[in-house]
Amino acid sequence: MLCVLLILILNILLIDSHLIAPSNKHIGIIDNKSFKNKDKGDDGDKVPTKSIIDILSSNESFSNLILTLQKSDLIDYVNSLSNITFLAPVNDAFDKHDIQIGYKISKQQLKKFIIDDVILREYILGIAIEYTLADYGSPYIDDFQIPVLLDHRDGLYMVENANVLSDDEYISTSDSVVLAIDDLFMNPKESVCTYFQNSLDRNTGYERFRTFSDLIIGGNTCRSLQMSNLTFLTPSDSSLDINHIEKNYLLHDRGMEDKDLFLSNFILDGMVGGNYDNATVIYKNCNGDNISISSSCLGDEIIINNEVHSTKANYLLSDGIIHYFEDTLFNYKDTKKFPLFTPRKYLIGLEFEDFVDEVDFRGLSKLIDDRSLNQTIFVSNDYKSMTSLKNQMLYCFVNGSNEITSNAGDQEHNHKLLESRYCQTSEVDGDKRFCQKIKFEILEDGSMTLNGNSKIFNKEPYKIGNTSIYLIEEDLSLPPKLPVAISSKLVGFGMSIQFFKQFNYHKLLSNGNDFYTILLPSTKLWRSLDLTLDYLIDNPNLLKLIIEDLIIKGLIYDDFTGSAEFETYSDSKTFISRENSDALLIDNSTSVEISFTSQVLYSDGIIHPIQNNLPLPKDLTISTADLLTSQESLEFEKIINLVNLTHVLKPNSGYSILLPSSKSLLQENITASLGDIHYLEKCARLHILPPGSLDMILSCNSTSLTTLIPTMINGTHLTCRKLASGGTMLSITEGSGNEVRILRHGLVIEGSDEIKELSGIFLLDRPLNPNWLNNDHGKLYLHLPMFAIFVGILIGVVCVLLIFGCCLILVLGNTKIDQLEQQGSVREVEGAAQHIVSVNETMPLLSGDYNEGNIDGDAYGDGYKAMAVPKTNNSKKAGNVRTLGKYSSSFDARYSMNASASPIDMNNV
Ligand SMILES: *[C@@H]1O[C@H](CO)[C@@H](O)[C@H](O)[C@H]1NC(C)=O
Ligand SMILES: *[C@@H]1O[C@H](CO)[C@@H](O)[C@H](O)[C@H]1NC(C)=O
Ligand SMILES: *[C@@H]1O[C@H](CO)[C@@H](O)[C@H](O)[C@H]1NC(C)=O
Ligand SMILES: *[C@@H]1O[C@H](CO)[C@@H](O)[C@H](O)[C@H]1NC(C)=O
Ligand SMILES: *[C@@H]1O[C@H](CO)[C@@H](O)[C@H](O)[C@H]1NC(C)=O
Ligand SMILES: *[C@@H]1O[C@H](CO)[C@@H](O)[C@H](O)[C@H]1NC(C)=O
Ligand SMILES: *[C@@H]1O[C@H](CO)[C@@H](O)[C@H](O)[C@H]1NC(C)=O
Ligand SMILES: *[C@@H]1O[C@H](CO)[C@@H](O)[C@H](O)[C@H]1NC(C)=O
Repeated sequence: MLCVLLILILNILLIDSHLIAPSNKHIGIIDNKSFKNKDKGDDGDKVPTKSIIDILSSNESFSNLILTLQKSDLIDYVNSLSNITFLAPVNDAFDKHDIQIGYKISKQQLKKFIIDDVILREYILGIAIEYTLADYGSPYIDDFQIPVLLDHRDGLYMVENANVLSDDEYISTSDSVVLAIDDLFMNPKESVCTYFQNSLDRNTGYERFRTFSDLIIGGNTCRSLQMSNLTFLTPSDSSLDINHIEKNYLLHDRGMEDKDLFLSNFILDGMVGGNYDNATVIYKNCNGDNISISSSCLGDEIIINNEVHSTKANYLLSDGIIHYFEDTLFNYKDTKKFPLFTPRKYLIGLEFEDFVDEVDFRGLSKLIDDRSLNQTIFVSNDYKSMTSLKNQMLYCFVNGSNEITSNAGDQEHNHKLLESRYCQTSEVDGDKRFCQKIKFEILEDGSMTLNGNSKIFNKEPYKIGNTSIYLIEEDLSLPPKLPVAISSKLVGFGMSIQFFKQFNYHKLLSNGNDFYTILLPSTKLWRSLDLTLDYLIDNPNLLKLIIEDLIIKGLIYDDFTGSAEFETYSDSKTFISRENSDALLIDNSTSVEISFTSQVLYSDGIIHPIQNNLPLPKDLTISTADLLTSQESLEFEKIINLVNLTHVLKPNSGYSILLPSSKSLLQENITASLGDIHYLEKCARLHILPPGSLDMILSCNSTSLTTLIPTMINGTHLTCRKLASGGTMLSITEGSGNEVRILRHGLVIEGSDEIKELSGIFLLDRPLNPNWLNNDHGKLYLHLPMFAIFVGILIGVVCVLLIFGCCLILVLGNTKIDQLEQQGSVREVEGAAQHIVSVNETMPLLSGDYNEGNIDGDAYGDGYKAMAVPKTNNSKKAGNVRTLGKYSSSFDARYSMNASASPIDMNNV
């Protein structure tokens, strides 16, 4: 201590206080210049053994430093240094950071203040990079010296963040220079990898280069490549022509090579920076390309290729240097130096690598590697779970890249059939191609769907080359085979499905050999054929003919225009033309409505559900006699034969038949064996309608009560009545009020082109009895009106008697008589009421609760089941009043169930 004190005092005395830190740096430097010259010239010769410590000790401004060196036992080390520049912080520098006097430091810490060269400022112009003795700069390179930045411009001299206060104090004996500085290098420099790692968290100031940092850090690139001793031409995020998908791709494992290619453009070997004067120096980047580097502002600005100026340069790391650029550095379109993005790379960037694998596995790699393909790709997140086939894969690729964008926003055409790359070749003529379609729709809320279930996420596609990529919510699966397509998409077509199954078409039409358009009539349409359908079911050959006519070879989508001749499945020709915007005209006769939304794609073509008209073959003929064969008509036909009226059943005769079933005829004792030929003929003629009558019954409604429907008996007509429930009742106009119900009907089909009056058959619940005719009444049956009058008179008489009785009671006030009279009258009232109830119940059919509407029921099986329900109710009710109701009620109970059932179900009942 004493020694130190002595030295200090000596120094203060010997050397004048020129070296104190001046508040004004300029003044300080100017002062020091004169001092230096003096010092070098005079003192250097006088004191030949002067060391760094001597110089420090001689100036009070370094007392802290001296103390620190002593405490840290580094005096000897400093004395042993030669061929260096010693940066000596003055006391103020310690104070600035509140470092206590005599703070201990390590040798390594001290080395940061020792530049490994003799630096005289006249050789430093502008910015220069030098190295310190601190040799722990790089985690990867042994003994990498930490660099330090010198800045000597406009008379200002700085080392890093510290001002140089003194002149260059040259010590000739150790060939060293001492510089007084006014700051400590408190913040340790980060290494390259640490810096870029941390820059992801920092997001301020100049450091808007997250993309670049991400790429350097991502996938552990920095550490695994041991990045050190490098120069980074760091591009700002905005200057990089890279979107988030491309970035994702570059960060992906599979993008590693491309990332390295990308990054190597921006990285130079070694530490390149500082002042190049007016020279241009050529360096090679890690790609091997020449990069010419020059500087301006004495090295404060680095210029790349004489063109791109850095906005911040010479940012030193412990083992690297960064120059920051906000302008575009390179031509990023240059595919030799920068990765060429392809649909594959985009798909990887979008994290659909499973999809990519699948595409490769199916041998379709060229579809995603060729940027020039005009196509649209649909990918979904579901690919992870699906086992895709090649066809399935191809179905996700659509020809044309702007198929969807061209439609978006167009309210008029908010749907479209897209043509996928999944194409089949017809076996019949090899080059005819059928490319499976995709139904694209824009819904009212603006969302876009494919095949009605897959939602498109991105309204704007990801575009790469000529390819557009859309992400979809659900997997886009190929249109299924026929039966699945129908049953999954269509409700109310069960009967068609059943028929297609019956003839095995659901297999034949899905075998991938040929392509079809299927007109699929709804169950409702089939069922409207009613009795005619019974006949068709009894005659499968005819039904098959009809079905085959509904299958057209070739593809007719909803956008079909013009007219053309097609072949049906049965090889017959059919002529199809566009009738109007939403209907096709078949063979110039039947118009069927089709639409974009209703059409269903299936594996081998297209299905058009038909709701408005059932197209039938033009040469199909079904006569009245045909229709009768599938009904319970034996007894009726016997009667017709017996009375020589068979001509009415001949084809094209125009006659229609009201058919009571054999059972109902037997029940009513009207049979061919009755013997009363006159009666039978009357009966038969009542059930035959001359041409034209059928229309009247079909168009029967509440306002047509007065229509007279002619029968085969001259002067005898039928009146029809429409029930609220939809059923139709018939009664003889010139007869009693007895009504029969029309259960079902079927129309004759005549192939010839001439339009004739409709004819057909009606199925009745019971026969029209000739006895109901006015001139024939009253023999066997009590007529209801007469009965009603009788009951009315009876009730009237009872009422009169009652009133008379009451008056009598009031007048006489005799309680005995009163009691007796009351008991009697109550009994009588009850009797009368019973009569009224019975009368009403003899006509249950009039009540209209018979639900004929079920005939049009939709589901095939359910329709019939539903019909059976009201019948059981009726039979119970009818059973209760059998004694009074006679045949009208008992018939209802026993027959209506069978009469309404189809012949198929008949056997099961
Ligand atoms: C000082 O260093 C320079 C280069 O750094 C070298 O050329 C010179 O020989 C060294 N001198 C001594 C004395 O070590
Ligand atoms: C740093 O890189 C430069 C240029 O490649 C090279 O000359 C120098 O030796 C390297 N420094 C170290 C310490 O490896
Ligand atoms: C560099 O150019 C500037 C002006 O452009 C000039 O003043 C200076 O002398 C030049 N330096 C050298 C070393 O040529
Ligand atoms: C892609 O489509 C554009 C116009 O839509 C056309 O010019 C170009 O030739 C097409 N490219 C290919 C490969 O078909
Ligand atoms: C349908 O009508 C068009 C013109 O109206 C006619 O050219 C064509 O021959 C007709 N086709 C059939 C099958 O009648
Ligand atoms: C029907 O014709 C046959 C012979 O054709 C005849 O014997 C019979 O009497 C005829 N019956 C009636 C009711 O006209
Ligand atoms: C039909 O005839 C049988 C016997 O011939 C008779 O028992 C039955 O009551 C008759 N039915 C009707 C409804 O007249
Ligand atoms: C009832 O039928 C007649 C023809 O028979 C028709 O003119 C009329 O419009 C129909 N009324 C209703 C309500 O259907």
